[in-house]
Amino acid sequence: KKFNVAVVGANGAVGEEILRVLDELNFPIKKLVPLASSRSAGDTVEFNSKKVVIKELTSNIFEKEEIDIALFSAGGSVSAKYAQDAVRAGAVVIDNTSHFRMDADVPLVIPEVNPEDIAKWRVKGIIANPNCSTIQMLQVLKPLDDAYALTRVDASTYQATSGAGKSAMEELVSQMQAFFAFKLDDAQHKAFAHQIALNVIPQIDVFMDNGYTKEEMKMVNETSKILHREVPLSATCVRVPTLRGHAEALTLTFKNDVDAKMVTDVLQKAPNIVIVDEPSESIYPMPAACVDMNETFVGRIRADNFAKNIIHLFVVADNLRVGAATNAVRIAQKWIEMEAK
Ligand code: A2P
Repeated sequence: KKFNVAVVGANGAVGEEILRVLDELNFPIKKLVPLASSRSAGDTVEFNSKKVVIKELTSNIFEKEEIDIALFSAGGSVSAKYAQDAVRAGAVVIDNTSHFRMDADVPLVIPEVNPEDIAKWRVKGIIANPNCSTIQMLQVLKPLDDAYALTRVDASTYQATSGAGKSAMEELVSQMQAFFAFKLDDAQHKAFAHQIALNVIPQIDVFMDNGYTKEEMKMVNETSKILHREVPLSATCVRVPTLRGHAEALTLTFKNDVDAKMVTDVLQKAPNIVIVDEPSESIYPMPAACVDMNETFVGRIRADNFAKNIIHLFVVADNLRVGAATNAVRIAQKWIEMEAK
């Protein structure tokens, strides 16, 4: 069976990546319909080495195009406004934004972690994709929790500008150009609260009343929803001047004593995880080495200096792929496997 697939936000940072992943994974597509705002309607995107014309997102486009699967990546307000239209037209919505993530009637799915939750899609017709930082972290946490029972997680992230979309990537590039023209002091910033070039910013999204940012609280709340239990977790999310690939330093506390080998052994067998860990050769995961990859890379696995039940490690993944496009397309594949027969 083949499907009519709509990609909402098709010319955005995540949307373009979705098109590549659909093609690479040979997704069973009957018709691809790229959608964006009226600003981009008539422009083209590339799919399967061909140019496909972008159509304007409207309330009745899903019905008109007989869409079966709608992948949304155009921001929370667009999903809020149009997801129901797609569902009403008979499509399953796979939403990349945060809009539906904490809705009790919407499953929040990482296919390698909680594929069984997809079954709940029938309640609202919507499946939510977690936050990019949550996805790569949970691909690591889930197998370790199953094996050794986590009691606490502390995370510090190093997140690329593409997490904030194409205009944010352009902001970094234009500030670097300004730096080389000796004009960085005059450079503008819009995507971030401060200049991102040659800087790191300990703020992603807005601050909440508890002193954490929304991004940090997404990691906390989404982790509990996906693991179906409350896991004590605190995060510090930091934007760094890279284009692509999020890194995370994780401190993992377990119920009983564990050593680095025990953790490595479990992660070696875990789905979608690749161990890159030969520190004496300067081999460890880095953002520049994970671009265009669908796997999550783990290294620097080491014991704590003081407590025998604490392990530290470093996790890197392509935020546009693992953290967004690949996860969404794999949800769609699983959905077909489970529900569309
Ligand atoms: P457009 O280029 O027409 O504005 P990014 O995350 O890289 O910033 O991309 C955002 C994506 O979401 C783009 O494809 C953008 O299309 C799309 N988008 C933004 N606002 C809307 C809207 N109101 N209706 C439809 N698509 C939108």
